[in-house]
Amino acid sequence: MQYRENMAVQTDNIIVVGSGVAGLVCALALAPRRVTLITKTNGLAGGSSVLAKGGIAVAVGADDSPSNHARDTLQAGAGLSDPEKALELAEDGIESLRLLVEKGVPFDRALDGTLELAREAAHTRPRVVHAGGDSTGEVLISSLARMVFATPSIQVLDNTFVYDLAVNDGQVEGLITLDPDNGWIFRQSSRVVLATGGIGTIWWQTTNPIESTGDGLAMAARAGAKLADLEFMQFHPTALAVTGDGARLPLLTEALRGAGAVLLDQSGQRFMIAEHDDADLAPRDVVARAIQHRTSSGQAVYLDLRPVIDSGQATLFPRALEAARKAGLDPASQPLPVTPAAHYHMGGVQVDRNGRTSINGLWACGEVATTGIHGANRLASNSLLEGLVYAQRVAKDVCSQSVRKRAGAHGKPDLPPIISILASVDLNSMLDTVRQSMSEFVGILRSANGLESVLSVLVDLDLQRQKANSPLPPTDFAMHGALLRYCEVRNVVLVARLVTQAALQREESRGAHFRDDFPNTRSTWERHQEMTINCLDEGDRAEVFRVAAS
Ligand code: SIN
Repeated sequence: MQYRENMAVQTDNIIVVGSGVAGLVCALALAPRRVTLITKTNGLAGGSSVLAKGGIAVAVGADDSPSNHARDTLQAGAGLSDPEKALELAEDGIESLRLLVEKGVPFDRALDGTLELAREAAHTRPRVVHAGGDSTGEVLISSLARMVFATPSIQVLDNTFVYDLAVNDGQVEGLITLDPDNGWIFRQSSRVVLATGGIGTIWWQTTNPIESTGDGLAMAARAGAKLADLEFMQFHPTALAVTGDGARLPLLTEALRGAGAVLLDQSGQRFMIAEHDDADLAPRDVVARAIQHRTSSGQAVYLDLRPVIDSGQATLFPRALEAARKAGLDPASQPLPVTPAAHYHMGGVQVDRNGRTSINGLWACGEVATTGIHGANRLASNSLLEGLVYAQRVAKDVCSQSVRKRAGAHGKPDLPPIISILASVDLNSMLDTVRQSMSEFVGILRSANGLESVLSVLVDLDLQRQKANSPLPPTDFAMHGALLRYCEVRNVVLVARLVTQAALQREESRGAHFRDDFPNTRSTWERHQEMTINCLDEGDRAEVFRVAAS
């Protein structure tokens, strides 16, 4: 096929971008209103939600309550979680779970029929509802996907990449998509929901799928939306240390430690006992740092699953056992090598309690958004919960907005710059450089020198990437894969710069953000860090970021 020299124009009612739990639930909750659900993945089985192992934290246990749950959320959030919103989330989560159960999502149950509840780090009670043992994401997403395909008001466009939002006078007018059958399309709509997930792929070691390139965050940033808390990236302590090639690392769920698995150093000692009163179930950032201190000095760290297997609980963790066996390891006879890996972004596009961003007609929910609930460190299994609850709130709010009659009143945006000299730019090696630099200097342990060195690498890479642009449109379909790669690298570099800049500015240590040069928490920094890009011109990307405190 030939890419058109002009973009086609289409009009959509409501657009939801992303097919994780937040996108699917939002699209379903909007029915019977017409929704175009756009995802860059093939079908609805991509993204991070499908990989979620632990489950959904909900205060439904006999000795539990939303206020207990909220207290644990605040404790983990290290002073930056909003108490009111955390309590509302815990309360509304119970209703969201009830709806899923009513719709037939097969959560695991005990013999007496009650929901089985797992314990994860920093939860004072067992409260994690799961399905298929540690296959919760798979079970949940396949149930939701079936519902989506059975809902006639939802049109699914897969393999469709959103290049940018079109925003004029602070109002969304639509977005530009790229797909292999149609090339570029300007889709007019005055109501767009971003549910594009996280940014894990900007680090070399990550539990996220390769498609987590921060597309939603990047396009919201370019559109001028307010962003917040970008420095707070959660590193999961126990990814299986199997590959060194930058591919996604399998997650060994924290629920394994809740069920008795223990961390061992290379001499077989339980080092977490000396590190924290809660030992292996200490908050995630504490465990991740304890492991990182050892692995960065060349020592190996292991997770021993034998207490779980010996106590007859192996059937609860089919995915963990499968991942180990695939890597040629036998968890019944040897501890498994683990490493921390980029896992969940607490920061994102700033939203209010209805998921509204600072741009009219633009909502965000799920990992791309920051609601202020997770603070500096998300409590385990609060993310599927937040995705569910906020997706429903967003749907309600979208419905309450009157439709703007003249979306696209400012006409078609310009055709995006297109690469025609790709041969001279090695996008894959550019991506590898970003990811390795981020893991080395913007990972679990950070310092001004390292952060500044990464910023200069990123500025340089962005200039190289911009040189790849040419005004000539590519003429054949074979370019499509490379073009997509280019679009993702564009997002990765921008998001990496924003995260690094935010990390450099926060001169303290708090939650998941640890600065070797500022190892203590500072009261002056007990605040969120907002950010907007003040220069929207692609050709002028050596911008300074404007930062405001709130
Ligand atoms: C896990 O199962 O350990 C991860 C769950 C989460 O990140 O919430």
